[in-house]
Amino acid sequence: MRALAINGSHRRGKNTATMLRLVLEELEQGGARTELLEISDLRIEYCTACNHCLRKTECRIQDDDVAMVAERMSASDAIILGSPVYFGNVTSRLKALMDRTRWMHMRENVLDGKLGAAVTHAGLRNGGQEMTQLILERFLQHHGLRVIEARDPRSGVYNLGPMGTLYDSLEGEEIRWRKGVMEDGLTVRTCRILGRNLLRLLG
Ligand SMILES: Cc1cc2nc3c(=O)[nH]c(=O)nc-3n(C[C@H](O)[C@H](O)[C@H](O)COP(=O)(O)O)c2cc1C
Repeated sequence: MRALAINGSHRRGKNTATMLRLVLEELEQGGARTELLEISDLRIEYCTACNHCLRKTECRIQDDDVAMVAERMSASDAIILGSPVYFGNVTSRLKALMDRTRWMHMRENVLDGKLGAAVTHAGLRNGGQEMTQLILERFLQHHGLRVIEARDPRSGVYNLGPMGTLYDSLEGEEIRWRKGVMEDGLTVRTCRILGRNLLRLLG
């Protein structure tokens, strides 16, 4: 069992990375081999819309890090994408990577049948997490992945993937902000549930 997580944040090791690590921790406890790629470490050129991928199952651009990411995706049984919300959407770097995977589903579905999942994190309480989550989950579906959500098997309550916020509470007129996602118990729990849900289907 192999699971790959990709952090779309322009900041490595922060909230979105922590959420992905929580998911991966559950998978590791079940014996999966895991890897977390930080998009901020990668060089990703934009798709040039050359349409080469309509004719061949490959991308014409070969001199950046996308080929390596694609190889890791192909070798994984589960792919978990994470993005902070930037203006109600995924980050620009992650979107650039998403566009560059077009060759992986135009002529054949290279990733077909794998498990997929997504996590998002935003500053505000209603900062666009749900929209961003759906964009990521839709992308995974485009590639033929089976999207796994954070449904709690004990209650069966429907839940999209984990969506964190730094917003904590209102004290009088003052907003209290969390220092980081580890102070957000609900999100931490939801990440762990997602990891266990993936594990159950992978195992
Ligand atoms: C360019 C930019 C746009 C952002 N847009 C939003 C937004 O639309 N809604 C929101 O709640 N937070 C927004 N944020 C805040 C981030 O989503 C938030 O800080 C998140 O926790 C960052 O994740 P990270 O810690 O993994 O980098 C934005 C941050 C940046 C840098």
